[in-house]
Amino acid sequence: MTSRVPDTILLVDDDTNTLKGMRQFLSKPDREILTAERAKDALEILGTRSVDIMISDIRLPDMNGIQLMEEVQHHYPGIDVILMTGYGSIQDAVAAMQKGAESYLTKPLNPDELEIVLTRILQKRALIRQNKELLKRLSGQHVVPDILGTSREIREVLKAIREVAPSDVPVLVEGETGTGKELVARAIHRHSERSEGPFVVVNCAALHENLLESELFGHERGAFTGAVKQKKGRFELADGGTLFLDEIGEMSLETQAKILRTLEYGTFERLGGTQSLQADVRIISATNRDLKKKIEKGTFREDLFYRLNVITIKVPPLRERRGDIPVLARAFLERFSTIQKKAIEGFSEEAMRLLERYEWPGNVRELEHTVERAVILCRGGEITVEHLPAHIRELIDETQGEQAVVLPVGTSLKEAEKALILKTLESTGYHRGRTAEILRVSKRKIEYLLKAWGLEGLGRKPRKGV
Ligand SMILES: Nc1ncnc2c1ncn2[C@@H]1O[C@H](COP(=O)(O)OP(=O)(O)OP(=O)(O)O)[C@@H](O)[C@H]1O
Ligand SMILES: [Mg+2]
Repeated sequence: MTSRVPDTILLVDDDTNTLKGMRQFLSKPDREILTAERAKDALEILGTRSVDIMISDIRLPDMNGIQLMEEVQHHYPGIDVILMTGYGSIQDAVAAMQKGAESYLTKPLNPDELEIVLTRILQKRALIRQNKELLKRLSGQHVVPDILGTSREIREVLKAIREVAPSDVPVLVEGETGTGKELVARAIHRHSERSEGPFVVVNCAALHENLLESELFGHERGAFTGAVKQKKGRFELADGGTLFLDEIGEMSLETQAKILRTLEYGTFERLGGTQSLQADVRIISATNRDLKKKIEKGTFREDLFYRLNVITIKVPPLRERRGDIPVLARAFLERFSTIQKKAIEGFSEEAMRLLERYEWPGNVRELEHTVERAVILCRGGEITVEHLPAHIRELIDETQGEQAVVLPVGTSLKEAEKALILKTLESTGYHRGRTAEILRVSKRKIEYLLKAWGLEGLGRKPRKGV
């Protein structure tokens, strides 16, 4: 149970000797001990440092320890507090526990007792941390889905990912919406030496101009109205990992200039700050726009374009790699039928034919949503045409256009029905199920009518012998 970050413990007591003594017997290699003699100093430390446990005396010169604890609980809810009371002040101890102290100790301190209490809290914190990690992994937030597909196009994308991943070169991922650009960026990170580091996303389109800059570079307290606390930017947060700049085509020229400077000099400042900061970050960016056109129009900086675009990976639209449709559709079906707890075996031939024929303007994401919807609607063991949205179902008429049924005026409804059924049977190679699907009736009905017309063996090879 080793944590990479040392546990940070803040001791607050106005008696320097107590502080000295405690620091001495609490010091361990994986612990960092901070000290404060007043509540005010403690709060100042908490504003800049991340602390795990605060151990404070109840009697402080500028504030009561319980008040200090309440401040801490309000502003830094993750910190556990241990309060120390003078010998015999049971009332203080009771009040401390009632207000949410993790534990209390009576002075004079017994070092063993202090160590036992501290260890118990640290172990509890480690457990909570592990539990959160586990939940995160289980909920799939940490799992990068595999890039699926067997087409030549997608195999080229995979090859490019493997080639660029190990180096630190900036990569620009281009492709229409929903083609899998973010998935590609995550895969590059996962296959790089930075895979243990953070993968930080900035969506340049989703954030308003000013907000985007403070998101990217962070801000100091008081940098603008509403900046009540200092905040780290995504550049800083991505230190040691990968920064994914999504939809860079939407960035203003002003922000472009700042990013360019950061990339050129490797340094940046927080908004309202003067300190020059550094972060070791690999940049992957993505766009669904034609940046060359934006450069011509003067809305995207050419110099930034060449900085970001050392290597380009183009993710082709789904309609240009239709071979991937069945693979993706089956994978999504498996995922969603597991989630929905449904036993759906697959797609009917007709449904798959439509999926393969459709244009998919929303690419893989649209296919994913289409399959999810179909799984929700499906009550049987197979996804059929009727589970697909109307605009995809319409393609049936197109595909059947070449085999029209011509009916002269004067044809009875019964005759029209028969002609239509027979023509459809012919077009499906006398497949009863598919015919029923196209005509949106039950297979039983088709079989019943064929029998009524004395055609139950239509299209079937006569059986030899019995
Ligand atoms: N090859 C693939 N294999 C499996 N899933 C894929 C594949 N491509 C895309 N997806 C899935 O499709 C969805 C869209 O992918 P992603 O968000 O990466 O697309 P995008 O190009 O970033 O889209 P946008 O431009 O809209 O941001 C995601 O749920 C992703 O997991
Ligand atoms: Mg995206």
